[in-house]
Amino acid sequence: MNFVLQAQGITKSFPGVQALKNVSFSVSPGSVHALVGENGAGKSTLMKIISGALASDEGTLFIDGEERILKNPREAQDLGIAMIHQELTILPLRSVAENIFLGREPRKAGGILLDYAALHTRATDLLNQIHVSVDPSRPAGTLSIAQQQMVEVAKALSLRARVIIMDEPTSSLTSRETSTLFQIIGELQKCGIALIYISHRLEEIFSIADTITILRDGQTVHSAPTADLTPDSVVRYMVGRELKEVFPQGKDSRGDTILRAEHLSGQRFTDVSFSLRSGEILGVAGLVGAGRSEVARALMGLDPLQGGTLLFQGEQIVPRSVRAMMRHGFAFLPEDRKAEGLFLNMSVRDNLAISMLDRVFPFGIIRPRLLLRLIRDYFHRLNIKTPSPLQRIKNLSGGNQQKVIIARCLSLKPRVLILDEPTRGIDIGAKSEIYTIAQDLAAQGVAIIMISSELPEILGISDRILVMREGKSVAILNQGEATQDLIMHKAAGGTSWE
Ligand SMILES: Nc1ncnc2c1ncn2[C@@H]1O[C@H](COP(=O)(O)OP(=O)(O)OP(=O)(O)O)[C@@H](O)[C@H]1O
Ligand SMILES: [Mg+2]
Repeated sequence: MNFVLQAQGITKSFPGVQALKNVSFSVSPGSVHALVGENGAGKSTLMKIISGALASDEGTLFIDGEERILKNPREAQDLGIAMIHQELTILPLRSVAENIFLGREPRKAGGILLDYAALHTRATDLLNQIHVSVDPSRPAGTLSIAQQQMVEVAKALSLRARVIIMDEPTSSLTSRETSTLFQIIGELQKCGIALIYISHRLEEIFSIADTITILRDGQTVHSAPTADLTPDSVVRYMVGRELKEVFPQGKDSRGDTILRAEHLSGQRFTDVSFSLRSGEILGVAGLVGAGRSEVARALMGLDPLQGGTLLFQGEQIVPRSVRAMMRHGFAFLPEDRKAEGLFLNMSVRDNLAISMLDRVFPFGIIRPRLLLRLIRDYFHRLNIKTPSPLQRIKNLSGGNQQKVIIARCLSLKPRVLILDEPTRGIDIGAKSEIYTIAQDLAAQGVAIIMISSELPEILGISDRILVMREGKSVAILNQGEATQDLIMHKAAGGTSWE
């Protein structure tokens, strides 16, 4: 076989963790090779090694059959390997064109002056190649995440990359943006470019990958053509066991109405009405941009409500501040987890402890053992991978950082819990655990509002589903009557769905 890239026997340890053990991995030109595995399995680490961002402890890399030692990403790029990171690395104030050619801008007058005209034309050419119509002179920070990703693809093309690594590229894309990305991937393939694709979404993997490699605990457990695998078998390899029903069977635990929203309006939404009972899980569906997160933020006191009434246990309340809402027993898991503030330089334990203060330090008495027990419980349930609770959180894998924030939010035992896209970037085993925890909380009387763009998830655990469109609540569907088609129909305003 002809491989553009081959990694052999890659091993990598961090203090207290062996992230990769003797992993081999190869890609042929024009193929899409998917890399899957649970959070913390070693996917990003392997890709950072292949793209020169991290040195391996042992192992060999061959590019076009020749052994290479990559000292930095620049060397990898020169050899045709480009990586689009889990966290995009765009410079927001620089123009699209400058971002594409960063450090390699065309120059004139003997290299003294930047050749803006050439910069502009070449950027336009590249963007045209992938059918993206953004103005290359726009500041990159004004683009949507999807467009920023396209800029990264254009940059990879400008580097004449022959291998492009995409680490969870679709986790914040809408379904339409995802299909555009897939078209682009198809065209890159036709040019003989190889793609390495990391995702927790198995449907995506099965629709675009021709080969799948599964990592578990830093080892390759299986690698095969997609045609020889099924989603079930991939999950089995990933988690090392048969996974029970992803959606647990919850009992209907609904009690009295605890929250009633009447004709709420605020930033980017108007006339939103719904009611919520204690012990109920209310799913919120809608297209990206339908105003779902904005409603959540207003309920939590993060953005002002501009109109309408909110009744909590029959009494009118005004969400003036997050503190005030926390005192009412509201908790919120925002969509943008990073902004919500993990204390990156603090340990995992202390990040969790912040929310548990009341329970662990009642009357100011420190009970470190209780704290550790509570933490262990969440570590176990969500399968948070860290060498110790004292590890700095910034050293955890992307998905495990998310799990810590989710644990922090769930451990609050709120009256009303608002979850915005709680399972984004989370592996399948932990997803199902999050559903179980949500249902346990509901059974204890917690009222839950769950915003999600994954319809199977909404359908799988909601008692009722609120559908939003263009900033308005357009339907409330009961568990029995809701289907994917019906939700999409309501969310898209009766027009057909792509
Ligand atoms: N800089 C670091 N310092 C210490 N440990 C690290 C560091 N980077 C990664 N690790 C550890 O190495 C292991 C593999 O992490 P990696 O980021 O490769 O996982 P991943 O498969 O990409 O997971 P996810 O799906 O959550 O993104 C994890 O246990 C992680 O905590
Ligand atoms: Mg990762």
